[in-house]
Amino acid sequence: MSDKTKAANAMWGGRFAAGPDAIMEAINASIGFDQRMAAQDIEGSRAHAAMLAATGVITDSDADAIREGLLTVLSEIESGGFEFSTALEDIHMNVEARLKDLIGEPAGRLHTGRSRNDQVATDFKLWVRDQMDAAISGLEALIRALLTQAEAGADWVMPGFTHLQTAQPVTWGHHMMAYVEMFGRDMSRFQDARVRMNESPLGAAALAGTSFPIDRHMTAEALGFDRPAANSLDAVADRDFALEFLSSATICAMHLSRFAEELVIWSSAQFRFVALSDRFSTGSSIMPQKKNPDAAELIRAKIGRIMGAMVGLFTVMKGLPLTYSKDMQEDKEQVFDAADSLMLALAAMTGMVSDMSANTDSLEAAASSGFSTATDLADWLVRALNMPFRDAHHVTGSLVAMAEGKGCDLPDLSLADMQSVHADITNAVFDVLGVHNSVASRTSYGGTAPSEVKKQIARWKDTLS
Ligand code: ARG
Repeated sequence: MSDKTKAANAMWGGRFAAGPDAIMEAINASIGFDQRMAAQDIEGSRAHAAMLAATGVITDSDADAIREGLLTVLSEIESGGFEFSTALEDIHMNVEARLKDLIGEPAGRLHTGRSRNDQVATDFKLWVRDQMDAAISGLEALIRALLTQAEAGADWVMPGFTHLQTAQPVTWGHHMMAYVEMFGRDMSRFQDARVRMNESPLGAAALAGTSFPIDRHMTAEALGFDRPAANSLDAVADRDFALEFLSSATICAMHLSRFAEELVIWSSAQFRFVALSDRFSTGSSIMPQKKNPDAAELIRAKIGRIMGAMVGLFTVMKGLPLTYSKDMQEDKEQVFDAADSLMLALAAMTGMVSDMSANTDSLEAAASSGFSTATDLADWLVRALNMPFRDAHHVTGSLVAMAEGKGCDLPDLSLADMQSVHADITNAVFDVLGVHNSVASRTSYGGTAPSEVKKQIARWKDTLS
């Protein structure tokens, strides 16, 4: 059939003499991607049909036929036997058309008191809500893996960095727990957003509500929403929930990327801080010695598409007048892709963290180099000699310069060397120059001392249980 003579759309073609041009059909259709919301679409329709029967808008027998028919459609889709049609545009009309094939006339009553506008908002919310839950459990698994690492190495010493220059010794456990805090905030962002988004758009109809005596509280409850959205215009125009998902996902992906970057550095031959497992590494086809941290690199990169999706959807939404505009059909693919990328990145990071083994000798050797206990020395001068910190900083600087000149580290200087810079320095200074004493002394709340780290691990275990 040529485009010119093609029949008008069966769902809305009443006023159309001819069907759409092939190009129109191609740009208009979303079935290629929104079929991912089939289960949510059918769940929403089942809730709507049950409500229409309960309120007397349709008969019980029509509602029964609709329910049975929808279950058949769902199983056809799940088994892969469903034929999606581009001419039917989207998942909503594909499902309804198939329902009509199966049950006939009652199918036409399902769309009473609703529109595709509230329907798509409902489907998409249900889909995004599931992804929020998946992100929350993915993050919890990652946090648990980090806690296991932190517990094992609560007192392993490693260098802490600023500017990627050795700054002060810290503990492995403390470093792992820094990520626990970050991923914990990510988790709470998804939790917050989930609470805020949990209002049902269903029954807002096209935009203005409906004259049918529907019960939006009933459908809201059936779909696990806390309440119906209170303004029908907002209900169909709102995509904040998707934007909040993408924003939370972007921040989480940024954290994942920072950690991934550290793992790339740490697993290099120059650092040798960690060994990544074979399960999360790959080889090179030409260089036999290579073991590459590909998973970490890909996790590091995922923020590109996740943040891209966020910027993309903000750009789509920013100038849209109320209420629904077809632009909004461009909301889904980006969210789907971002969600897939985030879940995969979380799972890969969790696997890598669980499997990786720290090279405690390299960590400690690195922690002991680069004058990492210079601050401990300055603090000792303040405490033992009652020196103002600024003066202590200066004296320590001279001692660092002396050690550098001699090609040794601070603990290798003799007492005579020390006293040549400041006569009052005593042997007791050497106690603070060792990295283990250094970390053990940092017992301020949130500090790197193993005793503090263990408290934080216990607090997190408590929070998660
Ligand atoms: N496929 C559409 C979407 O994803 C469904 C809503 C269509 N509504 C409309 N008024 N044309 O946004």
